[in-house]
Amino acid sequence: MDGNGRWAQRRWLPRAAGHRAGVAVLTPLLEAAGEAGVKTLTLYAFSTENWARPVDEVDTLMSLFLETARKKVPQLNDRGARLRFLGRREHLPESVRAAMREAEDLTAQNDRLDVYIALNYGGRSEIVDAARRIVADGLSPDEVDEATFSKYLYAPEVPEVDLLIRTSGELRISNFLLWQIAYAEFYITDTLWPDFSREEFFRAIESYASRSRRRGGV
Ligand code: IPE
Ligand code: MG
Repeated sequence: MDGNGRWAQRRWLPRAAGHRAGVAVLTPLLEAAGEAGVKTLTLYAFSTENWARPVDEVDTLMSLFLETARKKVPQLNDRGARLRFLGRREHLPESVRAAMREAEDLTAQNDRLDVYIALNYGGRSEIVDAARRIVADGLSPDEVDEATFSKYLYAPEVPEVDLLIRTSGELRISNFLLWQIAYAEFYITDTLWPDFSREEFFRAIESYASRSRRRGGV
């Protein structure tokens, strides 16, 4: 969900206003995902690198998360979405961790749409954390193959990424789901996240649907 800061800057607004505008996109997007028959949607909310931002911006993002969780989790629950989080929880404020647990508990039985929020998430941290747990479990080298490794990721039940949407025109991965995107199709748009619409989401899906995925074959 990139481009909130630039969206605000273009309007002479503080960056926080951009983040707020970015949150407003979520409800229409999740509705569109449900309509399109998407089963799993992962949103990159806060990376392990985002701690490098000024403290007041980090605080704003954490408060905005709490406010958004209070408002949107009951709505998501009513619509049958199951919410889960990806990332290193231990460094997040306890209030945020509590909101994450509550959201997961409340929505655990839902099965219409799986929504994952990557929060304090890094693709490399995820791989390192998996390797650590494999070592801690005492697996021998020949027990470690791709299938076994996948089981040690943050959310082993998440299918591989089919489509990765990157907003704000950046041509990089930024440490997102490194393991899971091995064969992902990309949709890159100059649209800044707060301007990302359901129409554009459907365009991305159409673009994906028109591609032929060969996965190394012919
Ligand atoms: C949102 O966009 C990303 C986060 C919520 C951390 P940015 O804040 O990165 O926006 P730009 O890149 O400055 O435009
Ligand atoms: Mg950015």
